[in-house]
Amino acid sequence: MSGRRRQAESEQSGTSNGRGNEQMERMSMMQATNSGGGKGGASAVLSGGNVAVRCRGVVKTYGTGGSAVRALRGVDIDVASGELLMLVGPSGCGKTTLISVVAGVLERDGGECSVLGQDYEQMSSSERAAFRGKNVGFVFQQFNLIPTLTIAENVSVPLLINGVPRREALARSREMLAKVGLGDRTNDEPRKLSGGQQQRVAISCALVHKPKLLVCDEPTSALDAVTGQKVMELLRAVAADNELSLVVVTHDQRIFEFADRIAEMNDGHIEKVSAGAGHTRAEVGVREG
Ligand SMILES: Nc1ncnc2c1ncn2[C@@H]1O[C@H](COP(=O)(O)OP(=O)(O)O)[C@@H](O)[C@H]1O
Ligand SMILES: [Mg+2]
Repeated sequence: MSGRRRQAESEQSGTSNGRGNEQMERMSMMQATNSGGGKGGASAVLSGGNVAVRCRGVVKTYGTGGSAVRALRGVDIDVASGELLMLVGPSGCGKTTLISVVAGVLERDGGECSVLGQDYEQMSSSERAAFRGKNVGFVFQQFNLIPTLTIAENVSVPLLINGVPRREALARSREMLAKVGLGDRTNDEPRKLSGGQQQRVAISCALVHKPKLLVCDEPTSALDAVTGQKVMELLRAVAADNELSLVVVTHDQRIFEFADRIAEMNDGHIEKVSAGAGHTRAEVGVREG
């Protein structure tokens, strides 16, 4: 069964077990502020409380003086719980900087940013690391796997860092790899896998601790079209199953169909937000349920 089909079904079955209401609330929340952007427009800022990420006026500058680069110049954006937000825009416009701030791996210089109702600035560095370890996953363009470890060992690393005992970490790692279709490859080293399979391992590393927020930096750009589609189907299916919020940076128009909303960045700010096809599909799913 395809990921999208599974997603549609889980959304439909969600309607009968109460999760459909949440879905409906999320969609109406997105429409409630559907004033910006004109045709196909959606708002960067959402009304209602079910928000996983809230950024207001976020500013980040690299360097000082004449060589300073103002990478973020006042970013306003929300991500709803369970939403897949795509972030697009020309190279150098600040996409990686923004998701790094949201993921808590880079400190902002100004503005407000809360993730799951909490602000990294209010945390000590060890609290921040613990918060990230529990709640946030990061998928990079290059897969960032450790070449000398098996893929099961690679995927167990985030759990070991979180203090999970080795045996349990490996068991959960194998379970996660089975979910992404690599259950029979757990003892292989990454170099034995194709690019698409390695990206599935990287996604497993980012999801094995069951985060509530996943940020992905151009996750399909190193993959061919078919493999890229499959990776996005996998991400959508996992997101639908776990009420995961996803922010996906991409240049890749081929995967726009998976977005609930698409935020266009330019020169350090959000220029326009539009509703993606994922939005429509999810609404249809709810109605049909
Ligand atoms: N560590 C850094 N030091 C200095 N400038 C940086 C650094 N990282 C990014 N930049 C600059 O900040 C701007 C935004 O970069 P980035 O967020 O990587 O953009 P994008 O991901 O959209 O390509 C670019 O001008 C880039 O050159
Ligand atoms: Mg980038």
